[in-house]
Amino acid sequence: VAEDGSAAWLRYAPVSGAQYQRLPSKIVVTGDSLVEKTAGEELRRGLSSMLGRPFTVSAGAVGRASGGAIVISRSASSDGVDRYRITSSSGGVSIEGDTVQAEMYGVFHLLEEVGIERAIPSREVQSASSPIRWSDEWDNMNGTIERGYAGPSIFFESGHVRADLTKAAAYARILASVGINGCNVNNVNADLDLLTTEHIREFARLADAFRPWGVKLALSVDLTAPQTVGGLATFDPLDPLVIAWWKAKVDELYAAIPDLGGFTVKADSEGRKGPSQYGRAPADAANMLARALAPHHGVVLYRGFVYNNHLDWRDPKADRARAGVDNFSKFDGQFDGNVIIQIKEGPIDFQAREPVSPLFAALHHTNVAIELQTAQEYTGQQRHMVWLPSMWKWVLDTDMRADDRHTPVKEIVTGRSFPLADGRPRPGGFISVTNVGMEENWLHHPMAMANLYGFGKLAWNPDEPLAEIIDGWTRLTWGNDPKVDGVIDALQLGSWQVYEGYTGPNGMGTLTNILGYHFGPGIESAERNGWGQWFRGEKDGIGMDRTAAGSGYLQQYPKALAEHYESLATCPDELLLFFHHVPYDYRLHSGKTLIQSIYDTHYAAAREAGMYGARWDTLKGRVDDERFAQVSRLFAFQAGHAIVWRDAIDDWFHRISGIADAAGRVGHH
Ligand code: GCU
Repeated sequence: VAEDGSAAWLRYAPVSGAQYQRLPSKIVVTGDSLVEKTAGEELRRGLSSMLGRPFTVSAGAVGRASGGAIVISRSASSDGVDRYRITSSSGGVSIEGDTVQAEMYGVFHLLEEVGIERAIPSREVQSASSPIRWSDEWDNMNGTIERGYAGPSIFFESGHVRADLTKAAAYARILASVGINGCNVNNVNADLDLLTTEHIREFARLADAFRPWGVKLALSVDLTAPQTVGGLATFDPLDPLVIAWWKAKVDELYAAIPDLGGFTVKADSEGRKGPSQYGRAPADAANMLARALAPHHGVVLYRGFVYNNHLDWRDPKADRARAGVDNFSKFDGQFDGNVIIQIKEGPIDFQAREPVSPLFAALHHTNVAIELQTAQEYTGQQRHMVWLPSMWKWVLDTDMRADDRHTPVKEIVTGRSFPLADGRPRPGGFISVTNVGMEENWLHHPMAMANLYGFGKLAWNPDEPLAEIIDGWTRLTWGNDPKVDGVIDALQLGSWQVYEGYTGPNGMGTLTNILGYHFGPGIESAERNGWGQWFRGEKDGIGMDRTAAGSGYLQQYPKALAEHYESLATCPDELLLFFHHVPYDYRLHSGKTLIQSIYDTHYAAAREAGMYGARWDTLKGRVDDERFAQVSRLFAFQAGHAIVWRDAIDDWFHRISGIADAAGRVGHH
């Protein structure tokens, strides 16, 4: 199969189809909505391509699968949940959705089963874990992308929406194929002139490109818009003129885009202005927008990423990690029903490993969603292969022990741990910061789209096993050759631990250069400045003391979890330095001293990364030459860069601790 990076995992390469021979070649679409028609056409295209025989689509009122057809239909009743049922018999196949989007997800599921050579399900029911399954893109209207690593924006160019939206439409198709139902197209640090009437007309074209795929357009807005766009004297969320301005602006947006998903808001954070300027609370700002959006069924994703980036590093009580709970927990219960607090998975900022944000456990009467980052900002920027679902799964499975109950993050963000008063789950869900670009394969590294695919799968069902997720992606992207799949699956499944191993040890974060591009080692860049990513590497020892005696951050967790991390007897090695300040010769649970463990881990992980190339070489001739060469180049780069990382970190630890490497490697290379 020739390289077609733009298709991502929707390559529809031929499969050996004996078991699919009895699939009827007639596809019947009973509904007449745009999404249903698109689904029918997608099924025709995919099956024809994979099975090498023609399929046809027709409209019809056939209700059952009996008539020798594949019938796509809508079920009679619906609670609004994206749920589908696939049933098959000798007579045919029925794909029934409770929503039109779910009909499409059923179609993609059937295509995927064929693509990975699994049997057509005789009866299968699937439903989405939660309503919010969005991709956020940090694109600026000038065409650049904040933390984007694969070329310029597919949406914007020179201050406008692109004339040609072919890529945007193709992207919506990819998102829909893994159940993603919303796409916020612009940077959370939003352009200040975003909401002009001229731009709104342009956004309508973007929404048109997404609509066939059931993907809703969403926008990041800056709270100062009433001033910057509206010319008002204030943006105080309680000012009647401001309230009226937003209401009119939202009405204008919905006149142009009737199915707009809603707004994402970054406020009072990293230089963005916010309600604090007027002594108002996040709830005041969020609810003001939510009330303008509610009549149109829009939502507000208000970001929990609010912190002071001018902290005093000399103050042992100062701690950026505390900011989420400190800024939001007091407003629990005050947010309107269509506000969702969007919380980054960890308390700092997408490091190679952080503990789970305590804010997930602190809001019991507020809708929440988890923000994950497919863009590998601190994790190798799509020049290193790092399969992040391994990390996300660890986060989602973490039991917060809120109210001393089993409350894993996945059940909190899907609204089940703290349901609504009537018992229904709270609306919540999953957001991926993805940042695709104009490069043909969207994310640069041929392995990187596995992160977006994995995000979609976990957002749909956070219990889906990692091994199944990666194997699905690999087969669809690289073919069904067992040798190829075995090698790629194993490389991807181990890649997060390998990256963590040669970058950020024991919960220190990624020791990357935090002041610039967030790429490559820059160890002390995190220390002694206002950004608060300190790890306090001193003569006597290392790590942030976040116990009760230190910043008190640990006390923000529910009691059982706080105790687990607070006690050195139970605190896991991989998070030790996030919570505790310990001497370099401190003995870990593994039996090694901290310093020797750091030396050893960095050598072992860099060695592991150095072997990717040799493993990849065993696939020569089994994958297309173009992608083979691309991956070879990137693996060679990663191998070298892993050594740079290893030596930078080990040398730094050697210098500061004055303790020699028992194996005699450090300082002698
Ligand atoms: C990180 C990232 C910024 C981004 C911010 C956010 O700090 O480096 O580019 O704006 O997160 O999530 O708002």
